[in-house]
Formats: sequence, structure tokens, C-alpha cells
Amino acid sequence: MTALPTPPDTGPAEVPAAVRLFEPLALRGLQLKNRIVISPMMQHAAPGGLATAWHLVHLGKFALGGAGLVFTESTAVAPTGRIGANDLGLWADEQIAPLKTVVDFLHAHGAAVGVQIGHAGRKAGSEALWDGGAALSPQAMQVVDARWRRLGPSAVAAGPGWSVPEAMDEEALAQALDAFTSAAQRADAAGFDVLELHFGHGYLVASFLSPVSNQRRDAWGGSRVGRMRLALKVAAAVRQVWPAHKPLFCRLSCVDGAQGGWGMDDTVVLARALKAEGVDVIDCSSGGLSEQTHALPVARGLGFQVPFAQRVRQEAGIATQAVGLIVDPAQAEAILAQGAADLVAIGREALADPYWPLHAQSALCPDAQFRSWPRPHGVWLAKRWPALRDALSN
Ligand SMILES: Cc1cc2nc3c(=O)[nH]c(=O)nc-3n(C[C@H](O)[C@H](O)[C@H](O)COP(=O)(O)O)c2cc1C
Repeated sequence: MTALPTPPDTGPAEVPAAVRLFEPLALRGLQLKNRIVISPMMQHAAPGGLATAWHLVHLGKFALGGAGLVFTESTAVAPTGRIGANDLGLWADEQIAPLKTVVDFLHAHGAAVGVQIGHAGRKAGSEALWDGGAALSPQAMQVVDARWRRLGPSAVAAGPGWSVPEAMDEEALAQALDAFTSAAQRADAAGFDVLELHFGHGYLVASFLSPVSNQRRDAWGGSRVGRMRLALKVAAAVRQVWPAHKPLFCRLSCVDGAQGGWGMDDTVVLARALKAEGVDVIDCSSGGLSEQTHALPVARGLGFQVPFAQRVRQEAGIATQAVGLIVDPAQAEAILAQGAADLVAIGREALADPYWPLHAQSALCPDAQFRSWPRPHGVWLAKRWPALRDALSN
């Protein structure tokens, strides 16, 4: 837990310039008020792909908590490509309005809002994480929705327990491309400020990148250029329909974790190509390609993926978002100060403390007036402060 702030009784309302975490960031036409991003997190709470009151409260509290940018969970571009049965979706027009309610609330409370769109590919059809996250049988998927099935570059299963996906033909690939662009248009209609393409964690596009899962010999596979083709086509097609003033992010598994799989050198090449297609930020994650027993473990220390963000930023010349076990304001500040990333994303720490950004602000730039807090809260916290300080100092 972040320690109680010790603000001066009167102090500057502005954040000292030296604090990078609270420096605004301009991306195309969007101005983020700080560098703190809430990472996409599946909630399994959207029957029919429709946002519910859960999403309003779950995501709304991160806006109240002071984050600059709040992402939805991975939102399916097609019913075929859902990870779990109750993923958010943007494959149908009726999914726009419930998401817009969420977006409008977050905007009213000072946060920019991003949607992560994705297609689960050969990893479609898993239990909710709290039920174990195991692969569902194809029969169980059919009971939920006859359209739900596993697709991939090649007939190679994601691991033990996963059924072999259908290798996608030209028509299936065209449908997937179309699903991404239609979802992007609906995301714009819902008012999102940022669109993130989910190209990581072994889902459809990631499975095309890796030579472990992509064993094709046609134009969609083979060489690295062939394996990158789907990623670049999706990015280019989405950029065409996603408004020019709105930033486009892309989440990559910088190393996919499989022996002989996708690695950092590949990521740098892809990041350069994505930048050329109009992607603005690479969100640097890792892993998730398969559950094969020879998967390489990535040591999960504090900020374990930060070096990926640093290398992409330096070598591909594109803004990056660091994520993964970032838990402490000083740690987050150091990531920005060392030039490893332009944004820091927090996931589980935000579940533990949705007010993490405001607590970080109190820790890094104390303000006894609690001016950054939601007004109905901050006024009372400021009134309480002298009494609390006196009580604590006795
Ligand atoms: C409950 C939960 C759901 C997640 N769902 C997604 C998701 O939908 N899309 C995604 O790219 N990553 C997802 N992740 C990964 C997080 O975005 C994040 O990258 C990861 O948790 C590491 O950051 P952290 O250590 O701050 O939690 C999820 C993580 C958690 C804990």
C-alpha cells in the first residue's frame, strides 16, 4: 500500500516539471493528462459481447482514480474470435451504445479511453480465468455459439488440451481483416480516443507472426516478411478507417516464449514496419503463444518487460508503453526518466488500488488540497488532512 501523503499545508497546485509520470503527453490530436495507463483486463462480464454495469463501475473507478488512459479488456472483433464466452465485443452495431455509456462516463471524469480489439484465433474458447482458464472443448464452444471456432495460420494446436485450429484460407483472412476494420469503425462511433490492436499473447495475429504456429508456405507465412503480412495488413486497414487525429497502439508479445519462436530482433523489425503503417505506440508485453512444455520461461521480476519497451523505443524510434509488475510510483517514474518508455501501464496493481495514480501523485507531488481528486472527494480529504496529520503526529 502507498504510504499516507505528507503534503505541505499550502503548496503549488502544479506538478513539478521534474515528475515525468504526471507530464502530459500529446499523441496525434489527443492530450493525455499523465503517463499512467490502465492495462487491458478481461472481465468475462459481457453476455452477447455487450458492456454492462460491471464495465461502467470497473472502468469508471479507474477514471476517478486519476489514470490518464484507461483501456477496456480485449474486445472481440468477431464472434468467432472471442477468448471467453462473455468477452466484450464490437462485431455488431448494438454493442456500440453500451460501450458509449462507459466511455462518456470516463470522459466526464478526465480520463482518455482506449479499446483493445482482438481476435483469439487458435486460442478462442477458454474458461474464465477464475475457473482455471482451460481450453473448452469444440462441443462446449458450439453450445455457446455455433459461430465460435478456432482459426489459425496452420493446423497446429495451441498446446495440450487445445483442439487443432482450421488453417485459414484467403476468404477467412479477408473476413478477419474486415472484422478488424468494422470493429475500429464501431469503436470510433462509441467515442473511444485510442484503439489498440491486440497482436500479442498467442492470439490470431501473434500466431501468424511466430514460426512455431505459422507453418504456411504461401504469402502469409514462410519468411518473417510473410509472417508479418497479416499484422501489417490489419494495421494499414485499421489506420485507413481509424480517424487520423486518434492514436493507434499495438500490443505485441516482444518474445513469444516458444523455443525457436518470435524474438526481440523480430519485434524491432515489426515495430518499424508498424510505425510506417501509422501505429503510434507499441505496448510491450510477452509470452502466451502456446502451452507447449518447451516454452521458455520469462523471469517475472519487477518491471520484467521494461527492457523490451526500452529496446523498441531506441531501435525502432517509436513511442512505447511498458507493462508488467510495475507497482510503485518511484519505479514507474524511473522507467520514464531512463527513457525506457513513454507510458507505463498497470494491471493487477490497479485492481488492488484503483486510486493508484492519485496515490502516486500524492507521493511524488504532495498537495494538501487534494486538487487532483474527484471534487466531491478531494474537498473532504483536504478538510480532514490537518486533523489526520495532528492525530498521526501525536
Ligand atoms: C484479470 C486480467 C485480465 C487480463 N486481460 C488482458 C486482456 O484482455 N488483454 C491483454 O492484452 N492483456 C490482458 N491481461 C494482461 C495485462 O494487461 C497486463 O499486461 C499484465 O497483467 C501484466 O501487468 P501487471 O503486472 O501490471 O498486472 C490481463 C491481466 C489480468 C490480471
